[in-house]
Amino acid sequence: MIMKDTIVLGGSSGFHLAYRVSKLLGATLGDIEVKSFPDGETYIRIISDVKDKTVIYINSLQPSPNDKIIETLYTLETIRDLGASKVLAVIPYMAYARQDERFNPGEAVSISILSKLFRALDIDAIYTIDMHLHRIRDPTKLFGAKFHNLTGVRELAKYIKKNYSIENTVVIGPDEEAEQWAKIMAEELGGIEYTVLEKKRISAEEVIIETRDINVKDKNIIIVDDIISTGGTMVEAIKAIKKLGAKEIIATCIHPLLVNKAYYKLLKLEPKDLIGTDTVLSPISKVSVAPTIVEEIKKNL
Ligand code: R5P
Repeated sequence: MIMKDTIVLGGSSGFHLAYRVSKLLGATLGDIEVKSFPDGETYIRIISDVKDKTVIYINSLQPSPNDKIIETLYTLETIRDLGASKVLAVIPYMAYARQDERFNPGEAVSISILSKLFRALDIDAIYTIDMHLHRIRDPTKLFGAKFHNLTGVRELAKYIKKNYSIENTVVIGPDEEAEQWAKIMAEELGGIEYTVLEKKRISAEEVIIETRDINVKDKNIIIVDDIISTGGTMVEAIKAIKKLGAKEIIATCIHPLLVNKAYYKLLKLEPKDLIGTDTVLSPISKVSVAPTIVEEIKKNL
Protein backbone atom coordinates (compact mmCIF):
# COMPACT_ATOMS: atom_id res chain seq x y z
CA MET A 1 0.00 0.00 0.00
CA ILE A 2 1.42 3.42 -0.96
CA MET A 3 0.41 6.31 1.27
CA LYS A 4 0.82 9.24 -1.07
CA ASP A 5 -0.29 11.90 1.33
CA THR A 6 1.65 10.69 4.34
CA ILE A 7 5.19 11.88 5.07
CA VAL A 8 7.42 10.45 7.76
CA LEU A 9 10.03 12.82 9.18
CA GLY A 10 12.82 11.89 11.57
CA GLY A 11 14.54 14.25 13.99
CA SER A 12 18.22 13.94 14.89
CA SER A 13 17.40 11.00 17.22
CA GLY A 14 14.63 9.53 15.14
CA PHE A 15 15.77 9.24 11.57
CA HIS A 16 16.51 5.48 11.76
CA LEU A 17 12.98 4.84 13.00
CA ALA A 18 11.45 7.27 10.51
CA TYR A 19 13.10 5.25 7.74
CA ARG A 20 11.79 1.93 9.11
CA VAL A 21 8.30 3.29 9.73
CA SER A 22 8.11 4.83 6.23
CA LYS A 23 9.07 1.47 4.69
CA LEU A 24 6.48 -0.45 6.71
CA LEU A 25 3.77 2.10 5.91
CA GLY A 26 4.71 2.61 2.28
CA ALA A 27 4.86 6.34 3.03
CA THR A 28 7.30 8.99 1.82
CA LEU A 29 10.41 9.59 3.91
CA GLY A 30 10.80 13.36 4.18
CA ASP A 31 13.70 15.57 5.12
CA ILE A 32 14.43 18.13 7.85
CA GLU A 33 17.52 20.20 8.46
CA VAL A 34 18.58 20.46 12.09
CA LYS A 35 21.69 22.29 13.18
CA SER A 36 23.07 24.42 15.98
CA PHE A 37 24.07 28.04 15.62
CA PRO A 38 27.52 28.90 16.98
CA ASP A 39 25.90 30.21 20.16
CA GLY A 40 24.13 26.89 20.77
CA GLU A 41 20.65 27.88 19.59
CA THR A 42 18.77 25.33 17.47
CA TYR A 43 17.95 25.87 13.80
CA ILE A 44 15.16 23.85 12.17
CA ARG A 45 14.02 23.80 8.55
CA ILE A 46 11.42 21.41 7.18
CA ILE A 47 12.72 20.67 3.69
CA SER A 48 9.82 18.50 2.49
CA ASP A 49 6.52 20.07 1.49
CA VAL A 50 4.12 19.14 4.28
CA LYS A 51 1.15 21.31 3.27
CA ASP A 52 -2.11 19.32 3.42
CA LYS A 53 -0.17 16.14 4.27
CA THR A 54 -0.41 13.78 7.20
CA VAL A 55 2.97 14.07 8.89
CA ILE A 56 4.44 11.49 11.25
CA TYR A 57 7.35 13.06 13.11
CA ILE A 58 9.67 10.76 15.09
CA ASN A 59 12.29 11.88 17.60
CA SER A 60 13.58 10.41 20.85
CA LEU A 61 14.49 12.73 23.70
CA GLN A 62 17.95 11.21 24.14
CA PRO A 63 20.88 11.67 24.00
CA SER A 64 21.17 15.34 25.07
CA PRO A 65 17.55 15.47 26.26
CA ASN A 66 17.36 19.25 26.66
CA ASP A 67 18.46 19.88 23.06
CA LYS A 68 16.13 17.16 21.81
CA ILE A 69 13.17 18.71 23.62
CA ILE A 70 13.69 22.09 21.93
CA GLU A 71 14.29 20.42 18.55
CA THR A 72 11.12 18.35 18.89
CA LEU A 73 8.84 21.17 20.06
CA TYR A 74 10.08 23.59 17.39
CA THR A 75 9.75 20.98 14.65
CA LEU A 76 6.22 19.92 15.60
CA GLU A 77 5.02 23.52 15.79
CA THR A 78 6.61 24.31 12.42
CA ILE A 79 5.05 21.29 10.73
CA ARG A 80 1.61 22.50 11.81
CA ASP A 81 2.43 26.10 10.90
CA LEU A 82 3.38 24.98 7.38
CA GLY A 83 -0.12 23.62 6.89
CA ALA A 84 0.08 19.87 7.59
CA SER A 85 -3.43 18.47 7.78
CA LYS A 86 -2.58 15.99 10.53
CA VAL A 87 0.45 15.90 12.84
CA LEU A 88 1.31 12.67 14.65
CA ALA A 89 4.25 12.91 17.07
CA VAL A 90 6.20 9.77 17.93
CA ILE A 91 8.52 10.22 20.91
CA PRO A 92 9.96 6.71 21.33
CA TYR A 93 11.91 7.70 24.45
CA MET A 94 10.22 10.27 26.69
CA ALA A 95 12.79 12.08 28.82
CA TYR A 96 12.30 13.18 32.42
CA ALA A 97 9.65 10.55 33.19
CA ARG A 98 11.58 9.44 36.26
CA GLN A 99 11.33 12.93 37.82
CA ASP A 100 7.59 12.51 38.36
CA GLU A 101 7.48 13.76 41.91
CA ARG A 102 9.02 16.37 44.21
CA PHE A 103 11.31 13.95 46.03
CA ASN A 104 13.09 16.77 47.90
CA PRO A 105 11.71 20.19 48.80
CA GLY A 106 11.97 22.72 45.99
CA GLU A 107 12.52 20.27 43.11
CA ALA A 108 10.96 20.74 39.69
CA VAL A 109 8.45 18.02 38.78
CA SER A 110 10.03 17.79 35.35
CA ILE A 111 7.66 15.39 33.57
CA SER A 112 4.70 17.53 34.55
CA ILE A 113 6.32 20.64 33.01
CA LEU A 114 7.36 18.73 29.88
CA SER A 115 3.83 17.40 29.41
CA LYS A 116 2.48 20.97 29.59
CA LEU A 117 4.82 22.00 26.77
CA PHE A 118 3.55 19.11 24.61
CA ARG A 119 -0.06 19.92 25.46
CA ALA A 120 0.48 23.48 24.24
CA LEU A 121 1.18 22.17 20.72
CA ASP A 122 -1.55 21.72 18.14
CA ILE A 123 -0.93 18.04 17.35
CA ASP A 124 -3.35 15.22 16.71
CA ALA A 125 -1.69 12.44 18.71
CA ILE A 126 1.47 11.57 20.64
CA TYR A 127 2.87 8.04 20.77
CA THR A 128 5.63 6.91 23.06
CA ILE A 129 7.14 3.56 23.96
CA ASP A 130 7.16 2.32 27.55
CA MET A 131 7.22 5.66 29.25
CA HIS A 132 8.63 5.14 32.73
CA LEU A 133 5.46 4.86 34.79
CA HIS A 134 5.95 4.36 38.44
CA ARG A 135 4.01 6.77 40.54
CA ILE A 136 2.05 8.09 37.54
CA ARG A 137 -0.02 5.16 36.39
CA ASP A 138 -2.04 7.02 33.75
CA PRO A 139 0.06 9.30 31.51
CA THR A 140 -3.04 10.70 29.77
CA LYS A 141 -3.64 12.62 33.02
CA LEU A 142 -0.50 14.62 32.14
CA PHE A 143 -0.40 14.57 28.35
CA GLY A 144 -4.12 14.47 27.57
CA ALA A 145 -6.28 11.93 25.79
CA LYS A 146 -4.29 11.95 22.54
CA PHE A 147 -1.37 10.28 24.33
CA HIS A 148 -0.64 6.63 23.55
CA ASN A 149 1.85 4.67 25.63
CA LEU A 150 2.88 1.59 23.63
CA THR A 151 5.15 -1.27 24.65
CA GLY A 152 8.28 -2.55 22.98
CA VAL A 153 8.36 -5.69 25.12
CA ARG A 154 6.40 -7.75 22.56
CA GLU A 155 9.05 -7.09 19.90
CA LEU A 156 11.78 -7.98 22.41
CA ALA A 157 9.98 -11.25 23.16
CA LYS A 158 9.65 -12.04 19.43
CA TYR A 159 13.40 -11.60 19.03
CA ILE A 160 14.11 -13.91 21.97
CA LYS A 161 11.68 -16.55 20.68
CA LYS A 162 13.35 -16.47 17.28
CA ASN A 163 16.90 -16.71 18.55
CA TYR A 164 16.83 -18.73 21.79
CA SER A 165 15.23 -21.73 23.40
CA ILE A 166 13.03 -20.64 26.28
CA GLU A 167 13.00 -23.98 28.03
CA ASN A 168 13.66 -23.87 31.75
CA THR A 169 13.53 -20.06 31.67
CA VAL A 170 12.31 -17.51 34.21
CA VAL A 171 11.72 -13.84 33.43
CA ILE A 172 12.95 -11.41 36.08
CA GLY A 173 12.33 -7.70 36.58
CA PRO A 174 15.15 -6.06 38.55
CA ASP A 175 12.73 -4.10 40.75
CA GLU A 176 9.04 -3.94 41.58
CA GLU A 177 8.31 -1.33 38.90
CA ALA A 178 9.60 -3.75 36.29
CA GLU A 179 6.85 -6.27 37.06
CA GLN A 180 4.71 -4.73 34.27
CA TRP A 181 7.36 -5.59 31.66
CA ALA A 182 8.31 -8.98 33.17
CA LYS A 183 4.64 -9.97 33.05
CA ILE A 184 4.23 -9.08 29.36
CA MET A 185 7.52 -10.78 28.44
CA ALA A 186 6.52 -13.97 30.31
CA GLU A 187 3.09 -14.01 28.65
CA GLU A 188 4.57 -13.45 25.19
CA LEU A 189 6.97 -16.33 25.78
CA GLY A 190 4.07 -18.69 26.33
CA GLY A 191 3.14 -18.02 29.93
CA ILE A 192 6.44 -18.86 31.56
CA GLU A 193 7.26 -18.02 35.16
CA TYR A 194 8.19 -14.46 36.17
CA THR A 195 9.22 -12.63 39.29
CA VAL A 196 10.85 -9.40 40.44
CA LEU A 197 13.78 -8.48 42.69
CA GLU A 198 13.92 -5.70 45.25
CA LYS A 199 15.92 -2.56 44.56
CA LYS A 200 17.07 0.23 46.85
CA ARG A 201 18.56 3.26 45.12
CA ILE A 202 21.51 4.77 46.96
CA SER A 203 22.45 7.42 44.37
CA ALA A 204 22.01 8.10 40.63
CA GLU A 205 24.63 5.43 39.86
CA GLU A 206 24.40 3.10 42.84
CA VAL A 207 21.72 0.58 43.75
CA ILE A 208 21.41 -2.40 46.05
CA ILE A 209 19.49 -5.41 44.74
CA GLU A 210 17.97 -8.02 46.99
CA THR A 211 16.81 -11.30 45.55
CA ARG A 212 14.23 -12.30 48.18
CA ASP A 213 13.88 -16.05 48.40
CA ILE A 214 13.59 -16.87 44.70
CA ASN A 215 14.83 -20.17 43.35
CA VAL A 216 16.59 -19.80 40.01
CA LYS A 217 19.31 -22.43 40.45
CA ASP A 218 20.18 -23.98 37.07
CA LYS A 219 17.51 -21.92 35.32
CA ASN A 220 17.97 -19.70 32.32
CA ILE A 221 17.05 -16.11 33.04
CA ILE A 222 15.73 -13.25 30.97
CA ILE A 223 15.99 -9.94 32.82
CA VAL A 224 13.77 -7.17 31.50
CA ASP A 225 13.77 -3.51 32.50
CA ASP A 226 12.51 -0.37 30.81
CA ILE A 227 15.79 1.59 30.87
CA ILE A 228 19.47 0.80 31.14
CA SER A 229 20.98 4.16 31.96
CA THR A 230 24.20 3.97 34.03
CA GLY A 231 23.81 0.18 34.08
CA GLY A 232 23.80 0.15 37.89
CA THR A 233 20.49 -1.68 38.13
CA MET A 234 21.19 -4.27 35.44
CA VAL A 235 24.75 -4.96 36.65
CA GLU A 236 23.60 -5.58 40.23
CA ALA A 237 20.67 -7.69 39.04
CA ILE A 238 22.95 -9.91 36.94
CA LYS A 239 25.41 -10.31 39.80
CA ALA A 240 22.66 -11.20 42.28
CA ILE A 241 21.07 -13.73 39.93
CA LYS A 242 24.43 -15.34 39.17
CA LYS A 243 25.05 -15.74 42.92
CA LEU A 244 21.85 -17.78 43.12
CA GLY A 245 23.28 -20.29 40.66
CA ALA A 246 21.35 -19.34 37.51
CA LYS A 247 22.63 -20.81 34.23
CA GLU A 248 22.51 -18.38 31.33
CA ILE A 249 21.34 -14.78 31.57
CA ILE A 250 19.92 -12.66 28.77
CA ALA A 251 19.67 -8.99 29.78
CA THR A 252 17.07 -6.93 27.94
CA CYS A 253 15.67 -3.44 28.08
CA ILE A 254 13.48 -1.17 26.01
CA HIS A 255 15.57 2.00 26.18
CA PRO A 256 19.34 1.37 26.03
CA LEU A 257 20.64 4.79 27.07
CA LEU A 258 23.93 3.18 28.14
CA VAL A 259 25.43 6.28 29.67
CA ASN A 260 28.97 6.50 31.07
CA LYS A 261 30.55 3.03 31.13
CA ALA A 262 27.31 1.04 31.25
CA TYR A 263 28.03 -1.00 28.12
CA TYR A 264 31.53 -1.92 29.31
CA LYS A 265 30.30 -2.88 32.79
CA LEU A 266 27.61 -5.11 31.32
CA LEU A 267 29.88 -6.80 28.78
CA LYS A 268 32.34 -7.62 31.58
CA LEU A 269 29.65 -9.78 33.19
CA GLU A 270 29.36 -11.79 29.95
CA PRO A 271 25.62 -12.28 29.71
CA LYS A 272 24.52 -14.67 26.97
CA ASP A 273 23.02 -11.67 25.17
CA LEU A 274 22.35 -8.00 25.77
CA ILE A 275 19.32 -6.79 23.89
CA GLY A 276 17.70 -3.38 23.62
CA THR A 277 15.33 -1.75 21.16
CA ASP A 278 15.98 1.12 18.76
CA THR A 279 13.97 3.73 20.70
CA VAL A 280 17.49 5.00 21.37
CA LEU A 281 20.28 3.90 19.05
CA SER A 282 23.02 1.96 20.83
CA PRO A 283 25.32 -1.03 20.25
CA ILE A 284 22.61 -3.30 21.68
CA SER A 285 19.65 -1.91 19.67
CA LYS A 286 18.92 -5.26 18.00
CA VAL A 287 15.12 -5.00 18.03
CA SER A 288 13.08 -2.39 16.21
CA VAL A 289 9.93 -0.88 17.66
CA ALA A 290 8.88 0.25 14.17
CA PRO A 291 6.21 -2.52 13.81
CA THR A 292 4.66 -1.49 17.14
CA ILE A 293 4.53 2.17 16.10
CA VAL A 294 3.06 1.35 12.68
CA GLU A 295 0.38 -0.96 14.07
CA GLU A 296 -0.88 1.81 16.36
CA ILE A 297 -0.53 4.69 13.92
CA LYS A 298 -2.54 2.86 11.27
CA LYS A 299 -5.57 3.26 13.54
CA ASN A 300 -5.16 7.06 13.21
CA LEU A 301 -4.59 7.33 9.45
C1 R5P B 1 14.22 2.86 37.32
O1 R5P B 1 13.37 2.84 38.13
C2 R5P B 1 14.19 2.23 35.97
O2 R5P B 1 13.16 1.31 35.82
C3 R5P B 1 15.53 1.60 35.65
O3 R5P B 1 15.71 0.47 36.49
C4 R5P B 1 16.62 2.58 35.89
O4 R5P B 1 16.30 3.81 35.31
C5 R5P B 1 17.92 2.09 35.34
O5 R5P B 1 18.90 3.05 35.61
P1 R5P B 1 20.39 2.63 35.83
O6 R5P B 1 20.83 1.86 34.62
O7 R5P B 1 21.13 3.93 35.96
O8 R5P B 1 20.45 1.82 37.08
